[in-house]
Amino acid sequence: MTDHVRIFDTTLRDGEQSPGCTMNVDEKIAIARQLERLNVDIIEAGFAASSPGDFEAVRRVAEAVTSPTVLSLSRTRDEDVDAALRAIDQAKNPGIHIFIATSDIHLKYKLNMTREDVLNAATWAVSRAKKHLDYIEFSCEDASRTDWDYMAMICSEVIQAGARIINLPDTTGHAIPEEYGRMFAYIREKVEGADKVIWSAHCHNDLGLGVANSLAAIMNGVRQVECTINGIGERAGNTSMEEVVMAIKTRRDLMNVKTGIETRQIYPASRLLSQIIGQPVPPNKPIVGDNAFAHEAGIHQDGVLKNKLTYEIMKPEDIGIPSNKLVLGKHSGRHAFINRLSELGVDPKATDVEKAFAAFKVLCDKKKIVYDDDILALINEETRRTGDCFELLDLKVGSSVRETPHAEVTMRVMGEERTADATGDGMVDACYKAIYRISGINPALERYSVKAITGGTDALGEVSCLVRENGMTVAGQGAHSDIVMASAMALVNALNRLKARENAVAAPASEGL
Ligand code: KIV
Ligand code: ZN
Repeated sequence: MTDHVRIFDTTLRDGEQSPGCTMNVDEKIAIARQLERLNVDIIEAGFAASSPGDFEAVRRVAEAVTSPTVLSLSRTRDEDVDAALRAIDQAKNPGIHIFIATSDIHLKYKLNMTREDVLNAATWAVSRAKKHLDYIEFSCEDASRTDWDYMAMICSEVIQAGARIINLPDTTGHAIPEEYGRMFAYIREKVEGADKVIWSAHCHNDLGLGVANSLAAIMNGVRQVECTINGIGERAGNTSMEEVVMAIKTRRDLMNVKTGIETRQIYPASRLLSQIIGQPVPPNKPIVGDNAFAHEAGIHQDGVLKNKLTYEIMKPEDIGIPSNKLVLGKHSGRHAFINRLSELGVDPKATDVEKAFAAFKVLCDKKKIVYDDDILALINEETRRTGDCFELLDLKVGSSVRETPHAEVTMRVMGEERTADATGDGMVDACYKAIYRISGINPALERYSVKAITGGTDALGEVSCLVRENGMTVAGQGAHSDIVMASAMALVNALNRLKARENAVAAPASEGL
């Protein structure tokens, strides 16, 4: 059996399904390019049949990358298989990922189908897709709660119909490692043609066991792990890519397998995603959190100073954590700026470098020292401002102990300049009310957070907000050295995303996921 464990990244599909993690097409392409730099084997780019927006995203990602296989998810329905095939048509290495639930609880309450119906639907869909392409992955949704003998029968049939990869997901995050590993051992033993296919693990983190379950699966013959950057995904998330990859690398002595991941791209990938979706990485997050390599206790510091191996099992530079976070300043030229972008995993060709460099110079006038994270924030600020319906033109705010905080905002709305003022509990509140007036949208503000990207009172403030309107939840981000301005930018970004989502008329979709 091969010692290569394939990394299947589903940040753009399962990851994007979690609230507030929605990305626009340009953002998805930026992530896909970073995944290619990471050298992932497979990118699940979306679920083409779920909406025109998802279809377009899968199509564009398929065109944007060359080395990874690009997949679209699909139910066992004619129209889903069709949409998936059309969306991945231009991919250099196209594939389709067909799934149906197989546990009795899903059959009874969700699908209202018998075991025989599900078996027929699965084999029908795989055979239908096989007429058009060879690369077919099949998943038994809720596998970890499915009857093992029934599941073995389905797997045998879909292999016969042409599936090349069989995925047995722990959809609800219910399994524990020994049990999940044993399930693979049992099924692989029972299934006809088991040695002709690649077995895949897909775990959710409801009990915090996503990575542990994936490792147990590998110990039992699995050679593909489905995971996401920073572990984002439904509910408590999916298996975290950086954790599973570094566990395999660090414990190669025990695991005897390897991945093809370019681990120095892990940190840039984590930062890029975090900036795009506006979800900060918790400081204690393994591998990529701010504290992952910070030694606080005196005894630890003493040990590390004498020899890093006393308390460090991995090297920060292997993960791409910049050893020198202090980078550029006022006198840095365009060339140095572009070099730094490449080191941070940003593709200068996919970025409006002139605009970003101009923004960098403006920031240098405000801040003496510009850090890597400031630069990433600027780049992401540029990525966010594409094809917008609302544009923030000006903002004046005022507040004092005797005066009610007030704001006057000027925006361009579909080409027309509009101004409104408002008072509020604070300057951010006043500013948000003025923006709601101008835009004519009054969403529920579900989350608002401010983070100083780097130290000092001149730091760039990064604001993330989550707004909800007409059943849609979207996130918005803004970065500026003035936090009221960053707040306004974040809200305007969220409103633009709401508009974009409304325009991508949603079709009945992710039912069953
Ligand atoms: O968790 C799950 O079962 C899934 C499938 C669609 C593979 O995401
Ligand atoms: Zn999943």
